[in-house]
Amino acid sequence: MNNYLNKNPLDKNSNKNTINEFNIFNLIDIRLESIEKNLRNIKNILAIVSPKGGVGKSTFIFLLSNYLHYIKKEIGILDLDLTNPCLDVIFNAKNVKFQEHNGIIPPTLFNNIKLLSINQFIKPDEILPLRGNEITQVILELLTITNWGNLDYLLIDTPPTITDTFLDLLRFIPFIKLILITDNSTLSLNSITKFIKIIKEKKLDILFIVFNQLHKYSYDDNGIINNYLKFLTNEIPNYIYLDYIENIENYYGKMDINILKKEIYEKFQKIF
Ligand SMILES: Nc1ncnc2c1ncn2[C@@H]1O[C@H](COP(=O)(O)OP(=O)(O)OP(=O)(O)O)[C@@H](O)[C@H]1O
Ligand SMILES: [Mg+2]
Repeated sequence: MNNYLNKNPLDKNSNKNTINEFNIFNLIDIRLESIEKNLRNIKNILAIVSPKGGVGKSTFIFLLSNYLHYIKKEIGILDLDLTNPCLDVIFNAKNVKFQEHNGIIPPTLFNNIKLLSINQFIKPDEILPLRGNEITQVILELLTITNWGNLDYLLIDTPPTITDTFLDLLRFIPFIKLILITDNSTLSLNSITKFIKIIKEKKLDILFIVFNQLHKYSYDDNGIINNYLKFLTNEIPNYIYLDYIENIENYYGKMDINILKKEIYEKFQKIF
């Protein structure tokens, strides 16, 4: 247990802790044992990540939940976008409450989806400004106190960028699998191309990459976007093209398998 906390996976020299760090790590270690216990009965833990914001991470969690709900899997969803959570809006779960019994039991939606969001701990319409170590502490606390029970999938929504939340997840859940997502803009494709180089180097487990066709324009006069796509699909042969879904907000708050086009449904069938 000790060893994965003491290492920042992206820092080659992270084995060398200072005396202060040693004390902090000892304290965190106790919580790590609870985290391990809480996650023991979850078959798959998947985090959706992107270096760029607004590319469809939370939306993809919603779409995947629709599929997993449809095939009757037990799903947990953890919104770790702590300063800008939105899954309670997408799932229309603003007034749901967790139960307390040997920790926290997340509320259940649609029979088989458990959803935990920081919004369930604060007043309605409040937001939680957090920095650095505060983010780590909240993540540790949520993972320590939450009793998910038996799940087929725990889906974790993350904020954009590869700073605190992403690095903490790798530390606290070393067996986590990643779903990467990018939209079809040059800026996002450029960011994720650099990001992939790091995670391939560190041998992190990537389940697949999603190319979200969020922008309707097709600007590729000089083949730049094609070059990015060629590189990315070569690096990650498991990929999904996600079409733009008109009036997606009409689907919020319900489980409706018709939200998925045939191609996506068939892709999901192959993966899950
Ligand atoms: N395939 C899609 N079809 C239609 N609308 C989409 C699609 N993907 C994303 N959107 C819309 O794009 C916006 C951004 O999506 P979303 O909030 O899921 O991105 P995000 O990556 O989670 O953002 P953040 O980085 O801020 O957490 C939302 O308004 C969402 O409804
Ligand atoms: Mg989001």
